[in-house]
Amino acid sequence: MTTIPVIDFSKLDGEERAQTLAQISKGCEEWGFFQLVNHGIPVELLERVKKVGGECFKLEREEVFNKSRAVNLLNEFVESNKNGKVENVDWEDVFLLTDDNHNQWPSNTPQFKETMNEYRSEVKKLAERVLEVMDENLGLSKGYIKKAFNNNNNGAFFGTKVSHYPPCPHPEKVNGLRAHTDAGGVILLFQDDQVDGLQILKDGQWIDVPPIPNAIVINTGDQIEVLSNGKYKSVWHRVLSKPDGNRRSIASFYNPSLKATISPAPELLILEEKKVDQLIATYPTFVFGNYMNVYNEQKFLPKEPRFQAVAAI
Ligand code: OGA
Ligand code: NI
Repeated sequence: MTTIPVIDFSKLDGEERAQTLAQISKGCEEWGFFQLVNHGIPVELLERVKKVGGECFKLEREEVFNKSRAVNLLNEFVESNKNGKVENVDWEDVFLLTDDNHNQWPSNTPQFKETMNEYRSEVKKLAERVLEVMDENLGLSKGYIKKAFNNNNNGAFFGTKVSHYPPCPHPEKVNGLRAHTDAGGVILLFQDDQVDGLQILKDGQWIDVPPIPNAIVINTGDQIEVLSNGKYKSVWHRVLSKPDGNRRSIASFYNPSLKATISPAPELLILEEKKVDQLIATYPTFVFGNYMNVYNEQKFLPKEPRFQAVAAI
């Protein structure tokens, strides 16, 4: 059985630095997904994140989810004895935390805001460390990707998506989250300790991303694919709905500023040139905000038409 790489991030600072860099390189090139343990985010903080996450769902979200479009559509589907799957919906409760929407964060769960602020600041630091490792592995200057994600004074867009996948009475009839690749840069996922469901597509097969308590799952989105000129591919993934257990998943994405211009790194084009004697830019140059407009319409479709569409803008 193949399984996605599990990498001890603390070894980056010791004698095994070279091997650790190589493991991460392999994770990026061959898998698009890997899990980090000993990543430096205090376990004590992660325990508090789990606590406020669970409490917030019970206090502020469960009732809303029970009346949601997903629940209504599944009920109708079952009542009318339809075959197949409910379309265009995910069995997921979700809300987004950013620096700009503090006034919309859940406010009735004690310690939620404080804890999630603290978590977001830690996970953002980890994102920047991971990007620096990618800089190094790709042969780019330190800070290259971070800088590429900036636009003048607009820094990276850093968002945290808090999701729950409640137990589903008919898991075969609806997805937890439909298959997609992620739009942005690097995604850092703190998934449930026990309830699984996340799968990635590898060589034509869906493979589980098994829960490891307090690990952080890393994957790369479409923008890293462009920047690396296809060396690091964004990978299809999905979440299955499950009959038992309420799966928590907290996905933080470190994306370009909406105003940033994204293109393959020139250094990586030159390497291609040496190899095949011609300059290959497999990907277009575009403004990330334009890409997001396309993505919002086409999230659950293949990425190639998105690159074509944004190239034409
Ligand atoms: C996503 C995603 C996976 C999960 O939000 O893009 O893939 O486990 N989430 O919730
Ligand atoms: Ni995703």
